[in-house]
Amino acid sequence: MQLKLLCVGDVVGNPGRRVLKAGLEKLVPEHGIDCVIVNAENSAAGSGLTASQYKKLVAAGANLLTLGDHVYRRRDIIPVLESEENIVRPANLPMQAPGKQIGLFETAAGPRVAVISVLGRMFMKPPTDCPFAAVDRVMKKVPADVKVVVVEIHAEATSEKVAMGWHLDGRVSVVFGTHTHIPTADEHVLPGGSAYITDLGMTGPYDSVLGRDKQRVVGTMISGVPSAFDVAEHDARMCGVIVSVDSTTGKATSIERVCYHGDAHGM
Ligand SMILES: [Fe+2]
Ligand SMILES: [Fe+2]
Repeated sequence: MQLKLLCVGDVVGNPGRRVLKAGLEKLVPEHGIDCVIVNAENSAAGSGLTASQYKKLVAAGANLLTLGDHVYRRRDIIPVLESEENIVRPANLPMQAPGKQIGLFETAAGPRVAVISVLGRMFMKPPTDCPFAAVDRVMKKVPADVKVVVVEIHAEATSEKVAMGWHLDGRVSVVFGTHTHIPTADEHVLPGGSAYITDLGMTGPYDSVLGRDKQRVVGTMISGVPSAFDVAEHDARMCGVIVSVDSTTGKATSIERVCYHGDAHGM
């Protein structure tokens, strides 16, 4: 059986949440998507995810959720991370860090999908364990019946993301990058059968600097004077990839970039 996965990049603030809802309403039926995986680390005003937003994203059609370096910015997400099956914390945080390291979702068609997320180490905070060793450790704990495994590398450096793709090729269905908020044009299926992209791009306002008010960011970069980087408003888009996977082997057969444009004047 072919399963179709939609992987969606970092949801930023209210414009991101709104365009995600509209984008899923359109793309999920249009493409016959079986499972939607969403990075939600910037949902709450640009940093973190609240418990009530978690519920809204799930109601909007997010089946599996990942976070990133902003995982614990909103503390009320911690009980959600500890209790829900479909949301994960980065796997290479300290062992005592709250939250699950494997997220699971049972598709309507039957096969289950697993997601694992790791943080990169180059130019990243907080300090973490080796993401390559962490993903190898966690993959041993994926239930044997789960053949479709998705890995997120949430990292700044393209080299670290590309290396993770090669490290996992043939052992997982998809490796996608997040965190840099800019879609990359390198989506392809690696020789071993893992679909790969360096960055999904963000889901949020593109009339901005990575989702933040452009005047504030540019002004701060020019003057050196810090200011509050509010979430921008306009040109909201939902960006990601659609991957077809053979649910028996777990191998990907295709990967295609998608970008849903919301209201050009803001959401
Ligand atoms: Fe992000
Ligand atoms: Fe991030």
